[in-house]
Amino acid sequence: MSDNIEELLKAAQEAKEKAYAPYSNFFVGAAVLSGSGKIYSGCNVENISYGLTICAERNAIFKMVAAGEQVIEAIVVTGNTEEILPPCGACRQVIAEFSRPDTPVYMCSKKGDRQKATVSQLLPYTLSFHEVLGHERRY
Ligand code: THU
Repeated sequence: MSDNIEELLKAAQEAKEKAYAPYSNFFVGAAVLSGSGKIYSGCNVENISYGLTICAERNAIFKMVAAGEQVIEAIVVTGNTEEILPPCGACRQVIAEFSRPDTPVYMCSKKGDRQKATVSQLLPYTLSFHEVLGHERRY
């Protein structure tokens, strides 16, 4: 898995270079390792109507789903920050949708320092399929 993390980090760093962030100048990249072992990356894409902005993490995850996959094995997030960059609350909920409680989230700095946390550490008491629908996912 550690080799995968290096590859994931590289994909996230490359995606960060594509970020469209003229309003915040805050460039973010993310990369997801999927159930099939593929990597899907994404960057933040802002909009003049600020609320329409999509974060890098959700961009990467939605690409994975659009490609026909629904399992996140690991996710890396990076920004142009000296400190490690944690995902926002909205992205935590979307990460949780396609992860297990112990799925690793690697939060990285510009230099590549990283901090690992699990999905359940980042989002305890997650609203789950079971609570809303009364059953587990069927597909
Ligand atoms: N952003 C992300 O892409 N991911 C995060 O987890 C935090 C925030 C983006 C959204 C916006 O384009 C910019 O960073 C500043 O919030």
